[in-house]
Amino acid sequence: MKDRTVKLGRNDPCPCGSGLKYKKCCLGKSKPAPNDLKSLYAKKYKIRLKQAADIQGIREAGRLVIDTLDLVESEIRPGITTDEINTLVHDYTIKHGAVPAPLNYRGFPKSVCVSVNEVICHGIPGERVLKDGDIVNVDITSILNRYYADANKTFFVGTPGSKARKIVKVAKKCLGLGMAMVKPGNTIGDIGWAIQNHAESKGCSVVREFVGHGVGFDFHEPPQIPHFGRKREGIRLIPGMVFTIEPMINLGEKELVILSDKWTAVTKDGSLSAQFEQTLVVTDYGYESLTPYEI
Ligand code: MF3
Ligand code: CO
Ligand code: CO
Repeated sequence: MKDRTVKLGRNDPCPCGSGLKYKKCCLGKSKPAPNDLKSLYAKKYKIRLKQAADIQGIREAGRLVIDTLDLVESEIRPGITTDEINTLVHDYTIKHGAVPAPLNYRGFPKSVCVSVNEVICHGIPGERVLKDGDIVNVDITSILNRYYADANKTFFVGTPGSKARKIVKVAKKCLGLGMAMVKPGNTIGDIGWAIQNHAESKGCSVVREFVGHGVGFDFHEPPQIPHFGRKREGIRLIPGMVFTIEPMINLGEKELVILSDKWTAVTKDGSLSAQFEQTLVVTDYGYESLTPYEI
């Protein structure tokens, strides 16, 4: 994996979260007492920062998630059903001593979300047969030694058409641009802004109803990470925060409909939707992906 650690510049926002430039604040001074920030973030935002041992646990869960995504990718072809993808994910997860987090989560009946074409997210695996030209998102969350890691990718089934290629390219780029904003002193709004700016510049739209989230000790923890927003707004990122970025990008309008199964979210206008997700930890100078794959 490439080293994506970003060097902190003198004019960058100070990692202590003051909002001042680094050179006007902590540069050359000893670090702020980390315990103060820790209790502030716990009290004010209900954010539980992760220690080195926790991060190692989430990293190991994340390795399994990525290996599972790779297995699925190697098996995806026209003719496979979404339920067969569920079986692959379920069996591989159990075989490696982990638990599939989606199974029975708030009543979700399967071990993985599989979302085809106009399905935005939370597709329930079943008898649907994938066909040449489809796009399919596979969203995997595994619990290993009590630690959660969450990641997804959108795959092509057979040979993609031009619309499929476009929406997958834009959604993937959106995740990359969101991730590039992750460093101490930047805000949650900076992440959303970068994603929304790119999606809309390509004539696509950003789903509002589902957001990234804190993760690690539980499936969904504070804070929420919207994939839209304004620069400099929202909570300041500090080292030890672990959260997902998972933009859902539509080729047409942003509106969605939830089907009668109470889970499946589809685009209201029937246009294609794609998504990519990784679990990240904020480090002293940038971030590390705990579910790393090339963007
Ligand atoms: N993995 C999804 C996420 O990225 C959540 C799926 S919830 C489930 O947050 F119940 F549908 F599995
Ligand atoms: Co997630
Ligand atoms: Co997910």
